[in-house]
Amino acid sequence: AARGEAPERAAPTAAGSYPSVRLRRVRSTRWSRRLVAEHRLTVDDLIWPMFVIEGSNKRVPIASMPGVERLSVDNIVASAEQAVQLGIPAIALFPYTEPKLRSDDAREAFNPENLVCRAARAIKAAGIEIGIVLDVALDPYTSHGHDGLMRGTEIANDETIEALVRQSLVQAEAGADILAPSDMMDGRVGAIRTALETNGYVNTLIMAYAAKYASAFYGPFRDAVGSSMTLASSPEKRDKRSYQMDPANSDEALREVAMDLAEGADLIMVKPGMAYLDIVRRVSETFRVPTFAYQVSGEYAMLQAAANAGWLDGDAVMMESLLAFKRAGAAGILTYFAPRAAAVLNEIRA
Ligand code: PBG
Repeated sequence: AARGEAPERAAPTAAGSYPSVRLRRVRSTRWSRRLVAEHRLTVDDLIWPMFVIEGSNKRVPIASMPGVERLSVDNIVASAEQAVQLGIPAIALFPYTEPKLRSDDAREAFNPENLVCRAARAIKAAGIEIGIVLDVALDPYTSHGHDGLMRGTEIANDETIEALVRQSLVQAEAGADILAPSDMMDGRVGAIRTALETNGYVNTLIMAYAAKYASAFYGPFRDAVGSSMTLASSPEKRDKRSYQMDPANSDEALREVAMDLAEGADLIMVKPGMAYLDIVRRVSETFRVPTFAYQVSGEYAMLQAAANAGWLDGDAVMMESLLAFKRAGAAGILTYFAPRAAAVLNEIRA
């Protein structure tokens, strides 16, 4: 009704009464929706994963991740600067390792001059204040594409841990603020924590990929770091089911998280994201520790592909999917949408 006019009389319901509770009242205006919103996504929630390649002034598209490119170190520094401008608190770096540097013993992983170490150092040298997350896992460095060292057709847990500890120390030395073990070996968080403490890296955070599932949603990431190629050529065990979790389980995720926390993890991650929101909810509710979700490459690819085809509203599904992580209890989200989501959020605030 216009101002001053009597409001329209509502018709009684079929039962002859009026609903006294109308949940639609607070939904009826934008301001009241804002006032009662239970969860909110902000740029503070975003971690932006990036892929690094050798060379300079290079950008190499990743076919299965439309809109995402592998960047040479100079361009990584520029993107880190862009992340700061957007207000994104942290970035994660993943290397595309030259094939000739991949080996059975993954020795490039603990070369202090490897690609991710150089990228981290370049960002710090440029004085850019941003959190740098580096993965701890051997898959970008092994000739077979697995996260651990192989003995015969098995992934050898304890030998792998030794390599992961060496990798962690060179990465901490290069300036990683957060080490993110994504390898799913048993006991690696404790070994890494002890090594950090005994070497003076007392403030280096560990974000444990605690509940990491053996998922088909990692496909495009493996293209991006070149491990789909190496995994395909490995004679046995092309999947990671002997170390990553079975998607059928959720109690087991709680055990994984408990174990990583007891061993000294500061932050917990659940991965993949959208198909595992129940795990994010259970973990965040059970442990009350900062719980992160990784909206992985395949999730990005499917939303982006549908958006590019004109089948979905890209920005709308991006924002809705990210908000869903917050509703599930996530402290933050690793997402390839980070720069776009930050731009949208900054526009809304402006
Ligand atoms: C490797 C690693 C993977 C991802 C992050 N670290 C892939 C895998 O386990 O095969 C996946 C990220 C993504 O799909 O976006 N240890």
